[in-house]
Amino acid sequence: MSDRVYIFDTTLRDGEQSPGCSMTVPEKLKMAAKLVDLGVDILEAGFPIASDGDFEAVGAVAREYPWVQVAALARSNKGDVERAAESLKHAKRPRIHTFIATSDIHLKFKLKKSRQQVLDEAVAAVRLAREYCDDVEFSAEDATRTDWDYLEQVSRAVVAAGARTVNLPDTVGYSVPDEYKELIGRMVKALGDSAIVSVHCHDDLGLAVANSIAAVQAGARQVECTINGIGERAGNASLEEFVMAINTRRDRLPFETKIVTEHLFPASQLLSSIVTFGPQPNKAIVGENAFAHEAGIHQDGFLKERTTYEIIDPRSVGVPESKLILGKHSGRHALAKRCEDLGFGLNKEQLDTVYHRFTTLADRKKGVRNDEIQDLAREAMDETNAARAGLKS
Ligand code: KIV
Ligand code: ZN
Repeated sequence: MSDRVYIFDTTLRDGEQSPGCSMTVPEKLKMAAKLVDLGVDILEAGFPIASDGDFEAVGAVAREYPWVQVAALARSNKGDVERAAESLKHAKRPRIHTFIATSDIHLKFKLKKSRQQVLDEAVAAVRLAREYCDDVEFSAEDATRTDWDYLEQVSRAVVAAGARTVNLPDTVGYSVPDEYKELIGRMVKALGDSAIVSVHCHDDLGLAVANSIAAVQAGARQVECTINGIGERAGNASLEEFVMAINTRRDRLPFETKIVTEHLFPASQLLSSIVTFGPQPNKAIVGENAFAHEAGIHQDGFLKERTTYEIIDPRSVGVPESKLILGKHSGRHALAKRCEDLGFGLNKEQLDTVYHRFTTLADRKKGVRNDEIQDLAREAMDETNAARAGLKS
């Protein structure tokens, strides 16, 4: 089995569906440019039946980037599939992504349909989509809460109807890694080479990336994810976390993606400037503190050898440099380095003075700014110069 994992980016669809994240067509185009630089394999640009803006965005992205596979979402019904097909009319590499829920809870309360009805509608939607394009993906919404025998029956049926990718989403973020691995392993075995098994994990229990990794270990070869992990409720699997987990732990995760990792941080920053919020400061890979060190012991180790406290070189994900945060936990080594970076070559006595005053200041504040350190260093140097001048006169 090939170890290449396809990255299906749904920032512009599932990501955009979340509160505070809706995007205009020009904003989607701007973000799409970054996603193309990043090297995503499939770019889901919208849900055309949902709005004219989404319809337009899918077409615009497909026209602008003809070499990229562009996907449009559609429920498993004629109107949705035809609208998706229409939005992709000029696309060089179109994909229709059709979905229907398969769990009993969704069938009973949401769809009010029998298992047979849902199976028939899934097959009919895939057949119809195949009349418009060769590349059809089927998603069994709420797959992780679906009866496994029924899920296998639906998966086999949609593949027989022409789906090339079968996506088994953890729609409500309910699964845990060993369970998801078992489910995906079973479906990969059932479908063999006839289709790519894809995963799409939500983060309601904070397990979206862990579940995606478990799925890939079980044979899934497409991962659906978003920049900054945005998406419905707690979000989707974060693209940057999934990709960097694979890149960093290749010894345990022997998989390849085509992501150009140097674009990860710029992509995260761009998205933050478009939607209404950015990643939390302690977010892995792209958070403001992801490469920041404050504890004295950590700063000392880091200054001696970066890899003592960093498993990723920040430049490899497009972060310009690591940050040493000067606060009450910082040590003399980091302070000396910061004074040096700010242009102050202090002798031992001056550094002692600065360090003493710095710790007093840091005790009262959440962090000490560069201009405050400059003031302390200047003060210590002025005092030494004045003392020297006094000795001379
Ligand atoms: O979470 C989900 O199940 C989805 C599908 C439409 C793929 O977003
Ligand atoms: Zn989703």
